[in-house]
Amino acid sequence: MPGTPGDARQLRSGGSLNGHVRVPGDKSISHRALLFGAIAEGKTTIEGLLPAEDPISTAACLRAMGAEISAVADGQIITVEGVGLDGLQEPSEVLDCGNSGTTMRLMLGLLAGRDGRHFVLSGDDSLKRRPMQRVGQPLSMMGAEVRGRGQGNFAPLAVQGRKLRGAVVGTPVASAQVKSALLLAALTADGTSTVIEPAHSRDHSERMLKAFGADLDVGGEMGRHITIRPGARLHGQHVVVPGDISSAAFWLVAGALVPGADLTVENVGLNPTRTGVLEVLAQMGARIEVLNQHDVAGEPVGDLRVTHGSLKPFRFGEEIMPRLVDEVPILSVAACFCDGESRITGAAELRVKETDRLAVMARQLKAMGADIEEHPDGLTIRGGRPLKGAQLDSETDHRVAMSLAVAALMAKGDSTLVGSEAAAVSYPTFWTDLERLQR
Ligand code: S3P
Repeated sequence: MPGTPGDARQLRSGGSLNGHVRVPGDKSISHRALLFGAIAEGKTTIEGLLPAEDPISTAACLRAMGAEISAVADGQIITVEGVGLDGLQEPSEVLDCGNSGTTMRLMLGLLAGRDGRHFVLSGDDSLKRRPMQRVGQPLSMMGAEVRGRGQGNFAPLAVQGRKLRGAVVGTPVASAQVKSALLLAALTADGTSTVIEPAHSRDHSERMLKAFGADLDVGGEMGRHITIRPGARLHGQHVVVPGDISSAAFWLVAGALVPGADLTVENVGLNPTRTGVLEVLAQMGARIEVLNQHDVAGEPVGDLRVTHGSLKPFRFGEEIMPRLVDEVPILSVAACFCDGESRITGAAELRVKETDRLAVMARQLKAMGADIEEHPDGLTIRGGRPLKGAQLDSETDHRVAMSLAVAALMAKGDSTLVGSEAAAVSYPTFWTDLERLQR
């Protein structure tokens, strides 16, 4: 099996999908467990941490500033020896955030208030193209100093730590990364801060910061106002990370599409700020059952059983976008296999993800013969015509790689995929899971 960059992976079409799969830990929760553990007092233990490239980047940055973190490996309980709220040291090297926007954006908030210390952050070619002013600009309202290329918009970024002031700050986009950066900065400001979002984004930071002991209130319409009073010390916790619904989404769509499929995805995080994909799949008539629902360490969790059935086209837009932003690529694949026109609007944020996901999905699905039209803020997909196997390319994007794998299952004829190794950013065992489930 090809595993080195550049080699094309063979994707076999046909067969069915049956059995149980446990997707790796939630990426968003994994980053936060490492970050909050590092600035807490005492030991944090993390069960189910995602052992993938993105959280490994976060762990490496935190180690470079003095936090002791055990090796990130599958099936291990990870320990983080916290250094306390003001204990992070000035690193002697550039902090390498790899491909991870969450690492870079949350680090900006974490580091902006380290008075007198200096930090430089960079990453891979994709990350160096992603907008960072959306964090630097609201942080500057608290007195932060972040500089970079393009008026502070692009990495490499330099952070000159300052004593920050408490402030009421609005975020320019509904982004949990931006919100979380501001909450981290607010922990060490000189007064109370309130962060106001234009729409409610995923709330893992709020839940976990509270569990670590932060003095935080969530209010306003739909929880869009978060107030933090500095001064409370954070204490090490035991964090249990549920499976990532964004990784489960590939199996949910594959299970709904592939004739005869019957898949159960176990232990999936069902935080309501993340379940937009289930709402859209329900609207499409997908047969999905939620089983064994329970709460684990402050997050709702359950198993999802999906069986094959015919799907209807969908329409969704800006309102639901924060709850399914990472699932747009796989939903665009689902649309190719429903009779009729599906429409995605309000998705301009997709253009500044690891790749321009609207352009890349349109380009790659067109190569398979899809009828797909790109708009500045979305896609129109006229489904129902058969897709054919093709030479595909992830264009370095993990979610594109896995979405195309699902499209290839349903195509007439086999496909090849260049850049399949990108899946390791969020789901290192995706290809072995696919091989096991496809019969
Ligand atoms: C994330 C938030 C989302 C998401 C990303 C992870 C997080 O980004 O796309 O994969 O962990 O906070 P935005 O906050 O920029 O929408």
